[in-house]
Order: sequence, then C-alpha cells, then structure tokens
Amino acid sequence: PFVYLNGAMTPLSEAKVSVLDRGFIFGDGIYEVIPVYDRKPFRPAQHLARFFRGIEAVNIRNPHSEAEWLTLVDKVVQTAPTEDQLAYLQITRGPAPRTHAFPAQEPKPTVFLMSNPLIPPTLAMLENGVACVTMEDKRWLRCEIKSISLLGNVLAAQNAAAQQANETLQFRDGSLTEGSSSNVWIVKDGTLLGPPVDNLILEGIRYHLIAELCEANGIPFESRRIARNEVFTADEVLLSSAGKEILPVASIDGRTVGNGKPGPIFKKLYASYQIAKR
Ligand code: PDD
Repeated sequence: PFVYLNGAMTPLSEAKVSVLDRGFIFGDGIYEVIPVYDRKPFRPAQHLARFFRGIEAVNIRNPHSEAEWLTLVDKVVQTAPTEDQLAYLQITRGPAPRTHAFPAQEPKPTVFLMSNPLIPPTLAMLENGVACVTMEDKRWLRCEIKSISLLGNVLAAQNAAAQQANETLQFRDGSLTEGSSSNVWIVKDGTLLGPPVDNLILEGIRYHLIAELCEANGIPFESRRIARNEVFTADEVLLSSAGKEILPVASIDGRTVGNGKPGPIFKKLYASYQIAKR
C-alpha cells in the first residue's frame, strides 16, 4: 500500500520520519480518522473542521487548505485495496532539537496520510451486543483535542482487551465521559442521552449525526451529565465511532444491560446510519 508523507505518495515500507520528529518525541501532533464508503469520505467537511480546530488549538502551522487536505485524502483513498476504508490523517509540529516548548526556529510540520480497510462490526456484535468494562478516566483535561498523545486511551483500550471486552467506558468524578476511542450513549425511557460536549470528551462526528438521526426518528435527545448508576440501570447503552459506527452494549463489568439484547432505539439508529452513510 501507498501512503502520503510530506509531499509525496510513498510505499508504506519506505515512508520514514526523523527520530527527532516532535510527534515521536512528545506526541506533539493532531490526527483525524474519516470513514470512507465506496471510496467516498463520509462527512469530510465535519472531520476536516474538527482536525483544523485541533491544529489551531495547539498552534501547529497548517500547511494545507481544506481543499488540499481533501485532495490528499482522495490520493490515499484511490490507492487503497478496498472500497470501504478508514482514512487516517496526521500532522505533527515536525522535527526539531528536543526542547519541550515550541522550537524557536519553527520546524516544517510533518504531514502523513494513509487509508486502511474499514472492518465493520460483525453480525454477531450487532445481534448480540458487545461486552464493556469500566475504568476511572485518568486522561488529561483537553479531551476535545484529537491529539496523537493517546497513552491514556491506549491504556483504557488495553484494559478492555485484557478482559476480552470491546471497550472501556470511562468515568470522571462519577460521571460518564467516553470510551477509549468511541462516544458512549445511554437510553432511558425512550430518550437518548449523551454526555455534554465539553473538554472531557472528543466530540465525535457521529455525535451530531446521532442527534440528527434521533430528530429524524422522533427520538428525544438530551446532552447532560450521566451518573454511573444511570449507565448501569439504562435500558440500552450504545457506542459510536468512525469504525464502530453504532454498536449495542450487552454487558458492563459482567452486568447485563437492559434485557441483554440490542434494543429498539439501537435498531432505529443503526438502520438510519446505514442509509445515511451510502
Ligand atoms: N476515534 N472519542 C474518542 C476518544 C475517540 O478516539 C473517537 C474516535 C470518538 C468518536 O469520534 P468519531 O465519531 O468522530 O469517530 C470519541 C477514532 C476512530 C480513532 O482514534 O481511531
């Protein structure tokens, strides 16, 4: 497969960056993941807007316009082997002598894109739901930035993997935040509830989309703090992300969610999502 690195399409095996790259040394960079269906990016403008917000928030010089970034996305999408993909975009502050503060002499940002096959959730996951576990959210307080510094998310994902679970639901000060790489939703008495969009979560591109799908399906939607006990007593719990799309949760820490089967709100939202994405 080919990837894009700093101006050129390159075979993956030949794409190399400096060991002094601040992405490698400090995790000093921003990334984005865009689902691609039939080689067409899904909601590209929203993904690019979030990517640009992150880049601006950490003061990296953005070398490309939105149109240029989309052209780069198209380049990697066209060379990938499958029709459905997850496009990955990354920018770091670039290579510079190691000092924590921004280098006095501004480095050239490192721009990298690749696109990999999108592996959709299996039928078993959709029909039976997935297992989740919980953990205290120990990440930093700027979770709205899609930073490549993902150690907290990596440890949360590994916490799930070690327990044969699909995702870790994180809680901060007793309230639900999000998964290691997904947003989390609960259903209570027919209303879909999501945590507030603030610095404690990444605003998923599916966050707004799910609000729209609720509206279209006449499902009441509310953003507010969600207490831990509300998650355990919810009628349904859902996950959303570029790769997971919308997934039903069957159990949390070994306790059954609702009646243990994907519920009616999941089914409606999932069906609407499948129509929206093509
Ligand atoms: N992760 N929250 C976190 C911490 C995430 O990493 C993600 C996505 C989401 C959902 O956002 P979206 O709906 O835009 O995919 C929420 C991507 C897929 C990743 O890191 O690979």
